[in-house]
Amino acid sequence: MTTLPGKPKSFWLDSTETTSFPQMENVTVDVAIIGAGITGITAAYLLKKAGKTVALIEAQQIAASASGHTTAKVTSLHQLIYATLIDRHGEDAARLYGESNQAGVEFIAATVEKEGIDCDFQRNDTYSFAEDKKNLDKIQKEYDAAVKLGLPAEFVTETTLPFDIAGAIKFTNQAQFHVRKYLLHLANTIPGNGSYIFEDSRVQTVDEGTPCKVHANGITLQATDVLLTTHLPIVDTGLFFAKTYPQRSYIIGAKISEEKAPAGMYIGVGNNYHSIRTTPAEDGGLLLLIGGGGHKVGEKSETEESYQELARYIHSHFGIDKIDYRWSSQDYESFDKLPYIGKLTPANEHIYVATGFNLWGMSKGTMAGMLLADLVQGKTNPWADLYDSLRATPFVTQESIKNNLDVGKHWVMDRLKGIQDWSTDDVKPGEGKIITLKGEKVGVYKDEAGKVTAVNATCPHLACIVNWNSAEKSWDCPCHGGRFTCDGKVIQGPAVKDLEQKVV
Ligand code: FES
Repeated sequence: MTTLPGKPKSFWLDSTETTSFPQMENVTVDVAIIGAGITGITAAYLLKKAGKTVALIEAQQIAASASGHTTAKVTSLHQLIYATLIDRHGEDAARLYGESNQAGVEFIAATVEKEGIDCDFQRNDTYSFAEDKKNLDKIQKEYDAAVKLGLPAEFVTETTLPFDIAGAIKFTNQAQFHVRKYLLHLANTIPGNGSYIFEDSRVQTVDEGTPCKVHANGITLQATDVLLTTHLPIVDTGLFFAKTYPQRSYIIGAKISEEKAPAGMYIGVGNNYHSIRTTPAEDGGLLLLIGGGGHKVGEKSETEESYQELARYIHSHFGIDKIDYRWSSQDYESFDKLPYIGKLTPANEHIYVATGFNLWGMSKGTMAGMLLADLVQGKTNPWADLYDSLRATPFVTQESIKNNLDVGKHWVMDRLKGIQDWSTDDVKPGEGKIITLKGEKVGVYKDEAGKVTAVNATCPHLACIVNWNSAEKSWDCPCHGGRFTCDGKVIQGPAVKDLEQKVV
């Protein structure tokens, strides 16, 4: 078995206390918010401040899923986006995208100040850089687009990175922070005076009505409005699973001296790019975070290779050999590069969604929380039309056609995989494999001590066959990104039910 570097835990989680809120109760509130990441917490914080009663409901622990596994860069420079947005949606839309994301950055800055949040918040510059000359035209195009839109862009060829670059676009006055310290502080303002936070409460269904009904753990909660802020909505009727695709990426963290640490936050462009930033470590030093290795969920089984590649990169580019942390992350990308924020379907008056943040969840998640809070209160918001969740989806782009064909291919072809005549010797300790047992696909995992666990490998969401993820020891669904522990418990929706346990 490959030995992976570093502690297998997000630094953000490792450096903060675990939360412990009660399970969902049968209360009545103005707004139920399902999913307690940055979008849900921001919306709950704003709505409570506006005088609404809220229930923030999380399937596991708050601020611990996507928001607990991010790089936590707070910026409106999203690698390469503005030239694409101008091409696809026009200048006004691209400008509004920049303004709304910068508003997300400024909301975080202002909230840290107003609430006195100790979360290592720091104003910083952000760079998208081309290491190789062959990618310089992408940077130039992005720079031209950003200048045209009046964004705070500069073109530079020198940075504080310890290696040469061909060129970079730089946005000044962006920010970085410790995402959990920020979110846990906001969350602590929510409970009380008719508002609640509930954990370990996986919502199974939501019924639209007067009031809406939210069902979890056999309990029903009532709310005038419901926000689905679960990364990908857990309610399928809006078809957001077919309008986005899930992407996994990997992060490692390693101690770095002050002298060697780069100033600013960076992301490369081109194939196999990397994300770079530092953050204060718990012992007073600095931790260098390197991200990369992205791929579609469930399409790579040997995921250890992604961590090994990051370890090679930090060695070759920063001369660092000792890795302290490793973790992975997941996000949903929309085909038209804009998030979906608004009503679940045209028929839903009181159920709202936010999804498709395309890997830039800090500014977009905050902006989405702000927008959802306005929509629920019936307030006009200048970004509502741009991100309208009911807009037509471009199903005929190359990307969307390929993705939906891939989903169809998985649905059919993955039914042909699976070892037919198997014995437990076919599965090595620490490994998971799909087998075929009496015509049924079964996921078999053998732990390091040789104990075998088996689950029905058919995803309870829309019946694709899950794949083994070797680095995370999870069963991952290649269709819409549902993930399950090695013994079948849901880690990540859109699935809301566990994989059924099997005896083999
Ligand atoms: Fe949709 Fe598995 S997540 S079929």
